[in-house]
Amino acid sequence: MLRNSRFDIRPTNGALGAEIHGVDLSQPLDDSGVGEIRQALSDHGVVFFREQNITPEQHIAFAERFGPINVNRFFRHVEGHPRIAEVRKEPEQKANIGGGWHTDHSYDQIPALGSILLAREVPPRGGDTMFACMAQAYDALSDGLKATLEGMRAVHSSRHVFGATANYLQTDIKGRLGNTELATQDAIHPVVVRHPESGRKVLYVNSSFTVRFDGWTAQESAPLLKFLYEHAARPEFTTRFVWREGSIAFWDNRATWHYALNDYQGERRLMHRITIEGVPLSA
Ligand code: SIN
Repeated sequence: MLRNSRFDIRPTNGALGAEIHGVDLSQPLDDSGVGEIRQALSDHGVVFFREQNITPEQHIAFAERFGPINVNRFFRHVEGHPRIAEVRKEPEQKANIGGGWHTDHSYDQIPALGSILLAREVPPRGGDTMFACMAQAYDALSDGLKATLEGMRAVHSSRHVFGATANYLQTDIKGRLGNTELATQDAIHPVVVRHPESGRKVLYVNSSFTVRFDGWTAQESAPLLKFLYEHAARPEFTTRFVWREGSIAFWDNRATWHYALNDYQGERRLMHRITIEGVPLSA
């Protein structure tokens, strides 16, 4: 845990997450500020900021302090800012983006570190985002199951989510995502990963992108994956973030899952997301 921080870091209710107060992200951050935010992210899995009415350029400048930007090939980008993905739901739309537990980019050979999501327009109520802590989910497994999972690997894919046969193409978010022909990525990662910064063991499968265990059929994999998904989504491993305009969530994809709630029909929700490159994962 971070001691003597110049920021006011307040852990949120639930298993993970902390609000960071006393920082103005419209101003350049010095190295010690970056180090403190990086440490808080490692300690809490996701960090939140309030009242950051920053420009797209300031959003990009903040993100670049944590690594190169990963340009998402499936999301529409913000007009004039190809490095900022747009997460938009209009009042007349029913389906949303990210409405299920997942971790972004697990289908990549080198999954992204995480994302910095900024709320531009939020509904008067609803549209919260939930996060789940994959280190606590792993810790709570029995020693027997931990030993079984230890040497296992899982296959992750983008094809069924963003490809030509993806479910979203049947919904009204068609048009908000694209480039189905680029959904060719499959990657194999350990089921239990050693987090590159905290050193903690984390469960690294998710119900959106993991398709099977390596060397197992999808049918053979399904019962154990189902157990792990239900286990990791238990309320005691989660927290829930209520957005306001100018709020930011910066999450670590290796340590967390997230879930965008779709309970605000008839309202607009508009978010800007920048994703940061990660490092190779190992057990
Ligand atoms: C996402 O899954 O990246 C979007 C999360 C959100 O809109 O809350």
